[in-house]
Amino acid sequence: MKKTFLYLATALALTACNQNSETETLAEDNSTTSVPARRTCPSEEIRAELLKNDAAARQRYNNIEAGIQNFISSDKVLSDGTVDIPVVVNVIYKTSAENISDARIAEQIAILNADFGGTNTDASKIPTEFAGVKAGDTKVRFHLIKTVRKSTTKTKWGTNDAMKKSSSGGIDATSPANYFNLWIVGNMGGILGYATFPESAGLWNDGVVIAAPYFGKTGATSPYNLGRTATHEVGHYLNLRHIWGDANCGNDLVADTPTQTGANYGKPTYPLYNTCSGTSRSVMFMNYMDYVDDAAMFMFSAGQKTRTQAVLASSGARAGLRIY
Ligand code: ARG
Ligand code: ZN
Ligand code: CA
Repeated sequence: MKKTFLYLATALALTACNQNSETETLAEDNSTTSVPARRTCPSEEIRAELLKNDAAARQRYNNIEAGIQNFISSDKVLSDGTVDIPVVVNVIYKTSAENISDARIAEQIAILNADFGGTNTDASKIPTEFAGVKAGDTKVRFHLIKTVRKSTTKTKWGTNDAMKKSSSGGIDATSPANYFNLWIVGNMGGILGYATFPESAGLWNDGVVIAAPYFGKTGATSPYNLGRTATHEVGHYLNLRHIWGDANCGNDLVADTPTQTGANYGKPTYPLYNTCSGTSRSVMFMNYMDYVDDAAMFMFSAGQKTRTQAVLASSGARAGLRIY
């Protein structure tokens, strides 16, 4: 958006500048009717006149240049197709401990980048059985655009989205169609965090909420102190369902995650077998979309990667995250 203003300014400057030079150019050319002494091309001068006199043409010019600059700078979609999601962090705090530091926010973003990039150090723990279906690099990355802070007297928040509206003591989302909004609140009782799915793309309440004790790493509360609540919730935001399909032997719409009976907790020992419809399977409890402790989850699957890519594609529900 600021680019549009920049190009409008450029267009006006160009117009003003060429108005002076125009008479000079024409005077020079009047001297002879034979072969010009040197080459001259009036296209820019003609354009300057057009842009000066025609508001609609000026608008088209600005739109074209803004689009071209966006294509060139390609801040969001890297040359290998990676989508670099812009993040706005909204911190609503009562105590200073809840006023999560810039350093801890940077730490959380780095964790998201490692987990979605498959460069998390504990990826080495992925069992051989599941190594063939691990996502590796999901080609999704995150970069912080800005942090908005607000103090409150509220001590307990729920899942009614109050933190997402200034009229209810929260912080309004910043352009939720184009920025991933993340809210940090002090306390949500037993809830670590929650997310909206892609059907909420661009709505006022679109984004992820995390309770301060489970955000980032330094100073976070064990066993949810490795920043994986955000990894899990961003998984939902990018259309991933719980690995057990929120039902006994339910369906997460991902073919390469084995059907499992329900959520797993704590630090299960591998291999862990579940029987669904008479078939016993070793389950992928170390998946970010299960409920195990942060230290026990360290992978997305290839099928999950495909779902996140689909939602971020130009035709996907979250395509708005690809452009400014
Ligand atoms: N929405 C889930 C909850 O509040 C998040 C679970 C995240 N799990 C984790 N190990 N961090 O319980
Ligand atoms: Zn969840
Ligand atoms: Ca599955």
